[in-house]
Amino acid sequence: MSELVKRYTSRERANHWFIAICFILLAVSGLALFHPAFFFLSHLLGGGTWSRILHPFIGVVLALAFFFFAIGMWGQNKITAADREWQKRLGDILCNKTQGLPEIGKYNIGQKYLFWTLVLSIALLLVSGIAIWQPWFTPAFPIGIVRAAALLHAVAGFVAILAIIIHIYSAIWVKGSIRGMTRGTVSAAWARHHHPGWYNDVKKRN
Ligand code: HEM
Repeated sequence: MSELVKRYTSRERANHWFIAICFILLAVSGLALFHPAFFFLSHLLGGGTWSRILHPFIGVVLALAFFFFAIGMWGQNKITAADREWQKRLGDILCNKTQGLPEIGKYNIGQKYLFWTLVLSIALLLVSGIAIWQPWFTPAFPIGIVRAAALLHAVAGFVAILAIIIHIYSAIWVKGSIRGMTRGTVSAAWARHHHPGWYNDVKKRN
């Protein structure tokens, strides 16, 4: 068996997959509530009434779980000068010309953009979702705010769904990534190739 490197703890993995399940339930029920063309999707949560009742509660649960997940990786997602250099040379990277590139840490610039897109869209979904949560909170807000919140909720939901489609595609595309989130370890070859800065740090610590 080739050398393995620890990438995620069991707590991080359990939280990630819990968030993923909540996200799918929210995306499906949210689309069902958004347009009649998607109404058939409401069957996943037991019909229109149950989708309407459960969607906001699952949303609050996801926001809480994501908050703890995001706090754990906040520092590693700060965009650095090395990331900007990497971004400038994206054309070369796609052609596999990787000589002289700064070393990538635990996450690359694409993963960092995904992280900040999710932080922003989930925060906006939570705040706007509370303002349109009938009958509990909506009466406390002026109608103009409620209308703006309904629009913001749809836009942020669209952005989050798009970001997650790209995330899933990238996770499958970069061979060897999925096992990091299922078993917690990646091969040393994967770590050296995709995240050499992070690999060197791990080696120094052990
Ligand atoms: C449902 C299918 C999903 C799959 C197959 C998937 C897969 C993965 C994998 C393999 C990683 C590890 C990447 C690495 O170590 O470099 C990861 C990380 C991560 N996942 Fe997911 N994920 C899914 C859903 C989600 C959802 C719904 C969210 C949040 C709403 C999310 C947020 C993240 C974040 C923030 C990271 C760390 C940064 C990154 O790698 O981009 N994931 N995911």
